[in-house]
Amino acid sequence: MAASKFKQETAMTQADRLRVAMFSAQPYDRRFFEEALAERAAPLDIHYHDTTLDIETAVLAQDCAAVCVFVNDVLDAAVLERLHGLGVRAILLRCAGFNNVDLAALARLGMFAARVPAYSPEAVAEHALAMIQTLNRHTHRAWARVREGNFALDGLLGFTLHGKTAGVVGTGKIGLATARILKGFGCRVLGHDPFPSPDFAALGSMVPLDELLAQSDVVTLHCPLTEATRHLINQSTLGRMKPGAMLVNTSRGALIDTQAVIEALKARHLGALAIDVYEQESALFFRDHSSEIIADDVFGRLTTFRNVLITGHQGFFTVEALREIAAITFDNLACWQAGSACANVLPS
Ligand code: NAI
Repeated sequence: MAASKFKQETAMTQADRLRVAMFSAQPYDRRFFEEALAERAAPLDIHYHDTTLDIETAVLAQDCAAVCVFVNDVLDAAVLERLHGLGVRAILLRCAGFNNVDLAALARLGMFAARVPAYSPEAVAEHALAMIQTLNRHTHRAWARVREGNFALDGLLGFTLHGKTAGVVGTGKIGLATARILKGFGCRVLGHDPFPSPDFAALGSMVPLDELLAQSDVVTLHCPLTEATRHLINQSTLGRMKPGAMLVNTSRGALIDTQAVIEALKARHLGALAIDVYEQESALFFRDHSSEIIADDVFGRLTTFRNVLITGHQGFFTVEALREIAAITFDNLACWQAGSACANVLPS
């Protein structure tokens, strides 16, 4: 009798707990989300799935009120409709960009969606600078050489960043943080943004895009991916860049027409390329493909250039940023549950 009462109570308690399906979940997501959950003691069960969310995998959200997603999860109209049909009512993006969400379908279905707009702009900005200086001073190649007992400097020649002109495209949170660091290096900083941040005035001058491209030794992209910014860097804009300049993209892959960039590298017009994001990254990034044959020939070509540095979307990847992502995601969920106003709700 006592045992069956206990069973009944356990079932009731479990039914009362909110279920969240997390897609694209990596071991570090589990670690930081479980740590944040333990601090809050919220009646919540997170079901971690390492698979990406798409039309086939959406079924994993059965019986869940919310899904928690990342940059390469698909949230087009078909996936949102399927999730809605399964009972999902809230989309929790554990990232800043939301170019992967069909906002019209979201509104039509009356679903809640919120993102983490600023977990650590400095984390991404610092990674952009790490890439610039790695590529410029060839520390990655020097590391390999020294391990082989090769101390020759030929091929490792860089330039002094101090005194160079750096162009920041998109002067929002990450662009500003990047501009501050570049200023600290002694660069002359130029910015371009249709909605310029007043804070940028203390760091540099706002100029039209063409002027920024023509004058900058380093061009770093920090604008969101929208229909207006897709392939912002293309054959024509590449042609307007200063010969030998370095292009850096830690924002979204499709800001760049990758094929046009390859042609500019082959023509030796573009001096160097550093990318933390790639147009077709969803098929590659965040997974170990080291035992497979990678079929993407465009990506394969990029890896053959000595003056190209690629990292796999790790700009956000710091302890501080991951803690903040988990905390803000839970705040967004609590807002939705309470029906209170949420500053991070989409579109915003
Ligand atoms: P934000 O919203 O603070 O700033 C974006 C800025 O871009 C705004 O000032 C906006 O006016 C500007 N902008 C819009 N259209 C533009 C155009 N055509 N040309 C120039 N500027 C334009 O966003 P935040 O936090 O600085 O993030 C920027 C982007 O960085 C995100 O959209 C996301 O794609 C990317 N990101 C990458 C991460 C990584 O791990 N690599 C992590 C976090 C964000």
